[in-house]
Amino acid sequence: MKEKDQEMEQKMPLLTGIQVGRKSLPNRIAINAMECCDADTGGNPTHTAFRRYERLARGNAGMIVVEALSVVDENLGRQHQLTALPQNQKGLTDLVSAMRRANPKPLIVWQLTHNGELANPEFSERVCVKPFPGYEGRLLTEEEVDGILDKFVTAAKMAHDCGADGVDLKLCHGYLGSQLLRPFNDRKWKYGGSWANRTRFAYEFYERIAKEVKDPDFCVGSKVTVWEGLPGGQGSAGPDTPLLDLSEPLELVKGLEARGAKFIIQSAGNPSLTLPLVQTDKRAAEYGYLHFWFQKELRKALKPQTAVIGSAYSIYRDGKNAFRGVKREEASFLYWANKNIREGVCDMVAIGRQSLADPLLAAKLEGGREAEIDWCTACDNCIEFLIRQKPVGCSTYEREYTLELKEIRKAQGRLAESEKHT
Ligand SMILES: Cc1cc2nc3c(=O)[nH]c(=O)nc-3n(C[C@H](O)[C@H](O)[C@H](O)COP(=O)(O)O)c2cc1C
Repeated sequence: MKEKDQEMEQKMPLLTGIQVGRKSLPNRIAINAMECCDADTGGNPTHTAFRRYERLARGNAGMIVVEALSVVDENLGRQHQLTALPQNQKGLTDLVSAMRRANPKPLIVWQLTHNGELANPEFSERVCVKPFPGYEGRLLTEEEVDGILDKFVTAAKMAHDCGADGVDLKLCHGYLGSQLLRPFNDRKWKYGGSWANRTRFAYEFYERIAKEVKDPDFCVGSKVTVWEGLPGGQGSAGPDTPLLDLSEPLELVKGLEARGAKFIIQSAGNPSLTLPLVQTDKRAAEYGYLHFWFQKELRKALKPQTAVIGSAYSIYRDGKNAFRGVKREEASFLYWANKNIREGVCDMVAIGRQSLADPLLAAKLEGGREAEIDWCTACDNCIEFLIRQKPVGCSTYEREYTLELKEIRKAQGRLAESEKHT
């Protein structure tokens, strides 16, 4: 190894190259999937989505996960959600091409999902695998889940045809992939009860992709909630307890690896029910320790060639957070990302909210322009946009979204006022 590379490996392992699947990536920064509610009514990327993804490509992160694309259009969670259906083929091909033109280096994968019980009944049909308190929905039949699996496979083949490098089968955050895996899914059916039944959907997806997309370069992986923090949630010890038991999540990722997974993106929680676990809250930054521990356990369970990608790093920013019990200079994003990679806790670090604050983070670091980085303040206004079904962006650094947020809050105020008088 050249002296310069060795020096970099010591100081900034985040900026060293890594191979994921068969592609060599320029650095160990990944862009986490971020739904931004800016598709058109047919689920196609709009001008705003193109602008976001071209900017991310220019930002030179090693890997870009394109936000959760629904494989159906009848169970949507967002009114303006991207879909991966045959009618979207042209729009999505153009999107991938535009990203490649901006920068051919990043690994581009699409996150594929079905909303299940998180579909929004205000404009779509909510369906479930077993009625979860507070959510419920129409119970899916075995035949319907067989059909949904076919749609995931079709969408993955389309990702391949559109020029993406691979897909992330979403098994996190309480969406359908996650609902099927939960111990709570103790319904006696083909997709529930025993571990073999609960993993059937995920495992069959991987097995079918290996057979049906005969391209060794096509890179498949999953974002996995290690612990959902709910009674019967993913990673809990049984259908009625929230107590953590890592046996199933570790078994799951090993099973995915055996079926061809090239990367696992670690996550935790469920944004609808245990949000601070998914997106660590700046007032309780210590939750981040849990994510580090999950990453370490995944890393130990998997083969060295399967990349473990850690999530929930945005709150560390430049150390201005409420991470107690550590020195300020040891509380920053660069400190933790580099330390965790150096010590083998994870192989790559994914950024979610930080990627909205500064899509150019990797390029700025590589260019020695650290002082120019716009650090995410974890204000969580981006989540407010998402909850309100509005196009998502960073209201701290992008004026267009600052103004939009003001309008949203004004409208909310007017609504609250009118409700008082009815
Ligand atoms: C606006 C917004 C949209 C998100 N969309 C997705 C998504 O499409 N898929 C997903 O797996 N996670 C999604 N997440 C979660 C992030 O990918 C990430 O796991 C989480 O924000 C923690 O990382 P961070 O601390 O870097 O933000 C979203 C989060 C936010 C704030």
